[in-house]
Amino acid sequence: MAKKTSSPNLDRRDFAKIVMTFLGSIMGAIVGLPIIGYIISPALKTQEVDDWISLGALDGYPIGTPKLFSFTRTKVNGWERTTNSYGVYVVRKSAAETTVISNVCTHLSCRVKWDEEAHAYLCPCHDAQFEITGEVIYGPPPRAMDEYEFKIEDGNILIHLTEG
Ligand code: FES
Repeated sequence: MAKKTSSPNLDRRDFAKIVMTFLGSIMGAIVGLPIIGYIISPALKTQEVDDWISLGALDGYPIGTPKLFSFTRTKVNGWERTTNSYGVYVVRKSAAETTVISNVCTHLSCRVKWDEEAHAYLCPCHDAQFEITGEVIYGPPPRAMDEYEFKIEDGNILIHLTEG
């Protein structure tokens, strides 16, 4: 009775399968990894805001009366795009003395509004009042309105906007 031996063709076929599987895996990785990276990379990115925003010519802001400047910024967080609106008051106490303060109330983040008659910023939510410089006069806010760092370049005023 003849003994059955393994065929050399079968070995070659197995070898070819292994080589093809190996090469197929490498080809798949070469093609697939960049695609996977492209798809998931937005989820790994968070955009930090660190920018100087121009508020225009400093001379366009009157001395003695706060003037509101509003702007929006779009932030990308993963696949999410968020557009935030900002409001800042430019307060020129004199030609040489300027401050820039946020119009966000430090109590629960309502927007305050300068009232010329009351000579104060009024918060519509819980009746808080702030001085022209942002200190709390009355109401629940725990601290003064936030100040922005600013600089003057070529007669224009720019504020430093940062967000994590
Ligand atoms: S949010 Fe301004 S007083 Fe409450």
